[in-house]
Amino acid sequence: MSVSRPNNLDAYWMPFSDNRYFKAHPRMLARAEGMSYYTPEGKEVLDGTAGLWCCNAGHGRVEIKEAIQKQAAILDYAPTFQLGHPIAFEAAARIAEMTPEGMDRIFFTNSGSESADTALKIALAYHKARGESSRVRLIGRERGYHGVGFGGMSVGGIGGNRKQFGALLPYVDHLPHTHGLAANLFAKGQPAEGAHLADALEALVALHGAETIAAVMVEPVAGSTGVLVPPVGYLERLRELCTRHGILLIFDEVITGFGRLGTPFGAERLGVTPDIMTMAKGLTNAAVPMGAVAVQNAVYDAVVDGAAAGIELFHGYTYSGHPLAAAAAIATLDLHRAEDLPGRARAIEPYWQEAAHSLRSLPNVIDIRDCGLIAGIELAPRAGKPGARATEVFRRCFDDGVLIRVTGDIIALSPPLIVERPHVDRLFGVLGEAIRAEAA
Ligand SMILES: Cc1ncc(COP(=O)(O)O)c(C=O)c1O
Repeated sequence: MSVSRPNNLDAYWMPFSDNRYFKAHPRMLARAEGMSYYTPEGKEVLDGTAGLWCCNAGHGRVEIKEAIQKQAAILDYAPTFQLGHPIAFEAAARIAEMTPEGMDRIFFTNSGSESADTALKIALAYHKARGESSRVRLIGRERGYHGVGFGGMSVGGIGGNRKQFGALLPYVDHLPHTHGLAANLFAKGQPAEGAHLADALEALVALHGAETIAAVMVEPVAGSTGVLVPPVGYLERLRELCTRHGILLIFDEVITGFGRLGTPFGAERLGVTPDIMTMAKGLTNAAVPMGAVAVQNAVYDAVVDGAAAGIELFHGYTYSGHPLAAAAAIATLDLHRAEDLPGRARAIEPYWQEAAHSLRSLPNVIDIRDCGLIAGIELAPRAGKPGARATEVFRRCFDDGVLIRVTGDIIALSPPLIVERPHVDRLFGVLGEAIRAEAA
């Protein structure tokens, strides 16, 4: 039986998918190498999205594969509750070398969603350990995406992801998103207007009292909601207000980490250091699921030193620090260093930016945004059919051998960081044709 050509599509309930459409019109990816996927029929599909923002070092990296194979033969699994295994400690130390200075304590999870919920729980535990138990309120941002756990979903601000699931977490509030200012249309890199939108945090402080607010969580560049780049000065302002009011600032770096913005994390690129940082995806190049949360040493010290003898944080996953994932992470971080993947992203960013903005005059293109190796191309929706135009563009691109991602009527692009100019040309060439073809 060939696993790449299933003939029964019934059993698998696909995530975030139109199962009925897919099962009637399956589009499969069977294999991957370098910058490309291959369908079961052997057709090449250029990867314009690094899988789901995660295969930053490109596909099929032998170094990562061999590290996983080797580790599987040494230690398949070992518990990390009250026991340890060496490679998890090594992976944590390696991540800590890459995180901003002073953020040297690493908690392992298995996904971005688990990282988001872990970060929120650490923030609550931090305040409690410091005797500020009244700080229970969590602040997110409209259009934020922090995965699908109840914490991340509640603090996240995407209506479509919340409406099926009841009351969600209490004591959650949201800042306004930073999108839609006319002056920022077709901005290259960080848009100029909108730093003042961070001041909405002052209004929430006035409304609820700083002593009730535990944390603010935002993506440095919001990805899943359609590439929203922070206005110049916005994150700085948020940082300042959080510090002033004793609120922890959490950056969800699940897509902005590991070179996506041309620096190890978005924090460096954007010049703002949070108190807590989530990560996943690019951490292992997605070869084995793994997430992590990095915290300022003072956050760790407060929780750990502030606890009575015994377990300090009642949180963790069976697979936290899984040996195979740890091996994949170390091999991935080796590649980042050996090949200077953030540097490669920086070097090609101007070419990428120009290519993205070259679509400006195409029919129905109403905005283009970019930061690092991310681009968002927003299309005017078809009357009464939101998302339909971009979905057709997605299908057309796939059939023409290019993988893009769409969210609503926004096309989001985030190629592996090994992308080269001919890939960029092909990606935007095929995408431009598809946008033209869906002009009606
Ligand atoms: C910023 C952000 N946070 C969290 C997540 C959730 O990650 P996962 O799907 O691994 O749970 C994502 C996924 O795209 C993300 O972009």
